[in-house]
Amino acid sequence: MVCRKYYIKTMGCQMNLYDGQRMESMLTGRGFIKTASMSDADVIILNTCSVREKATEKVFSELGRIRNAKKSDAIFGITGCVAREVDRNAFSRIRGLNFVLGPQSYHKLRDVIENPDARHLHVDLSGLEKYDAMPKMTSSELSAYIPVQEGCSHCCTYCIVPYTRGPEVSRPFDDCLKDARMAAQQGAKEICLLGQNVNGYKYNLAALIREVAQIDGIYRIRYTSSYPTEMTDELIALHGVEPKLLPFLNLPVQSGSPSVLRRMNRPYDIDEYLSIVNRVKETGTQISSDFIVGFPGETDDDFNATCDIARLVGYINSYSFKYSRRPHTAAANMPDQVSEEIKKSRLAILDGILNDNQRAFNESCVGQVFECLFERDDGRGNVIYRTPHMVQVILPSLASWQPSDNTISSVAIVKIKITAANKSSLRGELCD
Ligand code: 5AD
Ligand code: SF4
Repeated sequence: MVCRKYYIKTMGCQMNLYDGQRMESMLTGRGFIKTASMSDADVIILNTCSVREKATEKVFSELGRIRNAKKSDAIFGITGCVAREVDRNAFSRIRGLNFVLGPQSYHKLRDVIENPDARHLHVDLSGLEKYDAMPKMTSSELSAYIPVQEGCSHCCTYCIVPYTRGPEVSRPFDDCLKDARMAAQQGAKEICLLGQNVNGYKYNLAALIREVAQIDGIYRIRYTSSYPTEMTDELIALHGVEPKLLPFLNLPVQSGSPSVLRRMNRPYDIDEYLSIVNRVKETGTQISSDFIVGFPGETDDDFNATCDIARLVGYINSYSFKYSRRPHTAAANMPDQVSEEIKKSRLAILDGILNDNQRAFNESCVGQVFECLFERDDGRGNVIYRTPHMVQVILPSLASWQPSDNTISSVAIVKIKITAANKSSLRGELCD
């Protein structure tokens, strides 16, 4: 079989998006062409996320659809976290599935391509092997993801990631820096340093950010996802002095209740969290958070404590989730699982508070001018930029300046005056 076109769909976090980009780069280097039409493809990849049960279930319904719609000789499979979660069972659930590659084994895609008639299963944890085994990226987005770390060793009791991506391993400092330099040469304007516990980067994240800030052509630097108590004094101070470091930080609290935090195995107390948040905010940096409602044993009082924290901190945007029971996690076996109905009503209450905060911040931006980074043309007559706080700004794509592919870099970073705000985005106009 001669494979020519590939179709890839990535779900989940930025780390997964990066992994997807890496596979795309490898396939392109081998002469494959990307297609947006799955029924046209010779190789079909679902790059999956297993952080919540719904996401995993969606993968299987989608695989069923792919099997029916794909060309008869096309090969299809899954990569990413669901691959490791379900392991060889994926083959019995989906007849004809060709490959199952875990998040640290996607470099084996090469074997899949070279031997498309075999069945491929690789879900072991091989740490950083994939970084060297894959060819270097051949192109870059305006905002380039650079992983500095694989896996996570915090072992929050709700989280499947330590199982799917293994224990935390930091990439060598110079490798990260080389990747950032290469991305800049390929046109990146922003570097986003990635890790499941990025501020726990073993070789000093603050030092790495300072080095990345020296790279010509890089205007903005951000990092995600951070663990609250791993914010070092050095890193917090850097927010106040490094102009390229964006004034925005995701610092997930997950819950405002001390007893829930203890059972989540997140052993910080709320005063400690608030003191870190206040020190970060004093540098002029805004905060976002992730929340889980309905963790096993969560009472009304526990939930109210979460709402209190949300009101107090005034997060400028947040992600909130109903607790989802995941295999390979300690919380799945905890007593007092909360009913779906209670989870749903708590989520609606929390979302009300978070949305009010977000809207208030967005309204405070009206009249201000921000240097923004181009994200995409929405294909419906608008272009989308991101402010330094990572809020979307929508502008009409005027024919006179709308970037075509080869001129994007000339309008990649522009000054925009904010003219209107709504809950989740801003409207703006170009400044002269
Ligand atoms: N249920 C619900 N949300 C979860 N998250 C992680 N695991 C679970 C789970 N089992 C959320 C956390 C994390 C974000 C990426 O996903 O809030 O920060
Ligand atoms: Fe999803 Fe977590 Fe895997 Fe990212 S690391 S893809 S969020 S399960």
